[in-house]
Amino acid sequence: MIKGFIFDLDGVITDTAASHYDAWKKLSDEMGWAFDHAVNDKLRGISRMDSIQVIMDHNNASLDEATIIELAAKKNEIYVASLETMTPEDYLPGAKELLTHLRTEGFSVALGSASKNAIKVLQQLNATAYFDVIGDGNSVSKSKPEPDIFLYGSEKMGLQPDECIVFEDAESGVDAAKAGRFYSVGIGPEERVGHADLRFDTMAEATLFEVKAYFKELFG
Ligand code: BG6
Ligand code: MG
Repeated sequence: MIKGFIFDLDGVITDTAASHYDAWKKLSDEMGWAFDHAVNDKLRGISRMDSIQVIMDHNNASLDEATIIELAAKKNEIYVASLETMTPEDYLPGAKELLTHLRTEGFSVALGSASKNAIKVLQQLNATAYFDVIGDGNSVSKSKPEPDIFLYGSEKMGLQPDECIVFEDAESGVDAAKAGRFYSVGIGPEERVGHADLRFDTMAEATLFEVKAYFKELFG
């Protein structure tokens, strides 16, 4: 029986991809690195340090560890500054409705995000109260596609993986959900999240009604 839901943040609850893009683009321009939307899409769901490595690999760049950490921190400063303008109007369409519905029906809800800025984002959205458990980039050391962040959420909710549905917009995030034996809902195109149990193009279609209809034998 499904008793809990675990949500990724960036790309599921709110769309931060453009802000991440702008920050990486600014850093890349300063470094003389090529960076475009196709590279940015590969960064979905992966940690900040893994992200800078992807960008450097794309540019055949290599730097010492201390410099990489410094550059990642610089990107983060730009990104965090951009979060100041985020408001409770900035949920992806449908996300707030789904979170409200889950609260009304008494499900347990966890966040399972790779971001170390997740709490800041939830505060900007005024979304903290929708979550019983907050798992973020500081909660576990192994990032997606490892299942650790979702296992952290289910464990803190006191649930087994097969009692939870994970919502993800990233290929690595759906991989992580499957590796942990969670049920999964993918948000986005077939080529990115088509391996999820159920897929919607956007959160607006991902209503509790639709999710229950698909997983009906798991809701009793
Ligand atoms: C994920 C995003 O949620 O968090 C990634 O999809 C991002 O794009 C990652 O790199 C880490 O975020 P942060 O805020 O810790 O740099
Ligand atoms: Mg995401």
